[in-house]
Amino acid sequence: MADYALELKGIEKTYGGAVPTKVLHGIDLVIPRHSFNAIIGQSGSGKSTLLNIIGTLDVPTSGEVSILSRPTHEMDKSALAKLRNETIGFIFQHHYLLPEFTVLENILMPHRIKAGKVSGSALKYANELIGFVGLEHVKNNLATDISGGQQQRTAIARALINRPEIILADEPTGSLDSATTDKVYALLKKINEQYKTTFIVITHDQNVAEKAERIIELKDGRIHLDFYTK
Ligand SMILES: Nc1ncnc2c1ncn2[C@@H]1O[C@H](COP(=O)(O)OP(=O)(O)OP(=O)(O)O)[C@@H](O)[C@H]1O
Ligand SMILES: [Mg+2]
Repeated sequence: MADYALELKGIEKTYGGAVPTKVLHGIDLVIPRHSFNAIIGQSGSGKSTLLNIIGTLDVPTSGEVSILSRPTHEMDKSALAKLRNETIGFIFQHHYLLPEFTVLENILMPHRIKAGKVSGSALKYANELIGFVGLEHVKNNLATDISGGQQQRTAIARALINRPEIILADEPTGSLDSATTDKVYALLKKINEQYKTTFIVITHDQNVAEKAERIIELKDGRIHLDFYTK
């Protein structure tokens, strides 16, 4: 069995409505484990649609997605949710932290959902992640009472808590200034190296894309360019 994080075959997506629009036109893509990949492309080129399909948050109109060599197209909703929760961490442009909970509680939330309660080992790992992303001094603050960069680092730690093999990030630094953006990417690279996590990151930022080992450019719902940076 091939050692791929993700394999996409012939992914097409048409959105319904009065005038159906086809936004992905047969995407084939193989993402090796432990790799760091950037997806770039103009607004409307289909980046988020593709990432949502990769993460099984959305289904393709046709084509197949395999996650860690497991084909997803025949799985029912609960099997899919289980696979997703166990293998994928998501980071979005907006952090979607729960405002009535602290930094620590937000980070633990995916574990709480998966396990039903918080184990001692998960609490220990949450604190390790808090150290890793540099949030020790605000870990008991409410998610609303920290800076934008700290909120995004909280969201990153939350994406890691279930030790996912794969992280999918849709413009994770889209709402941050350039200095904070650099820090967040340094952190993502560190996670990639230390935990061997596979990354697919959508970005508008050329500087950020160039730090990835592979850049995939979408144009009008097709792969226009796909190359390694070194
Ligand atoms: N739920 C939807 N229903 C209908 N059309 C949609 C839907 N979501 C996205 N689209 C359309 O699909 C195309 C691709 O959208 P998508 O969000 O994937 O682009 P994107 O590359 O992520 O753009 P951006 O850089 O602006 O985030 C666009 O033309 C968009 O209008
Ligand atoms: Mg998008």
